[in-house]
Amino acid sequence: MRIDLITIFPEFFVGPFDCGPTRIAREKGVLEIGIVNPRDFTTDLHRTVDDYPFGGGAGMVMKPEPIFLAVESIRKPESRVILLSPQGERFDQQMAHRFCSLSHLILICGRYKGVDERVRLLLIDQEVSIGDYVLAGGEAAAVVMIEAIARLLPGAVGDEDSVATDSFENGLLDAPVYTRPREFRGVSVPEVLISGNHGAVAKWRRQQALLNTARRRPELLRNVLLSAEDRDFLLRELGELPAEIKDGECGGEIKKVFEKI
Ligand code: ADE
Repeated sequence: MRIDLITIFPEFFVGPFDCGPTRIAREKGVLEIGIVNPRDFTTDLHRTVDDYPFGGGAGMVMKPEPIFLAVESIRKPESRVILLSPQGERFDQQMAHRFCSLSHLILICGRYKGVDERVRLLLIDQEVSIGDYVLAGGEAAAVVMIEAIARLLPGAVGDEDSVATDSFENGLLDAPVYTRPREFRGVSVPEVLISGNHGAVAKWRRQQALLNTARRRPELLRNVLLSAEDRDFLLRELGELPAEIKDGECGGEIKKVFEKI
């Protein structure tokens, strides 16, 4: 796939795409990254990309013309054009999976107070936020999204099983992991992990993932299919089931699917 960044700060991206899975994905040719600077599409002496907001108020607004021209210089019929802003749909692992099946993403990195509303109304397909906080611009958000997408591309991560067992891949947070030494500062590796019993290890991991999720992010359990064994385990460990799963095998959308089956 190809990802093009529309940014007035190309220097921001010196480095982040040259290490880890993003570098490997680029080297293997499964990911190409391009940078287009709206400043290159200005016609005035000062190469102006921002202006004062109509109606007054603090902060500058990114002008529409340079952004439109930058996007139109690379847009193809199959391109998905995304504006990065705190007002967008929340980026998550599911969205990363959907994006990695596309052939061309164009990520517009807003700056200053924001982009002229015509960009939102006429140019983009989707608006995405990486979380409920305000960054100085979309550049850091683009790096986050590209890393999440790159590691899902074929060959970017050495062991694909490692991706399959990541937090969120099955709707749950990850189980704890340990390496050598077996004992460190008085804390030992759980016996089951050195037992050589793969079935017992898998069961322990499932249970630890359930427990981690129930304690830290119980709302995620709304969309996870829980077996009777999972529920019994959580009940034993926590004394009661989290409110999010009290009303059945599982909650939310998945519950509806489950009921149909
Ligand atoms: N630009 C500024 N804040 C942002 C956020 N939280 N997500 C995406 N783009 C942004």
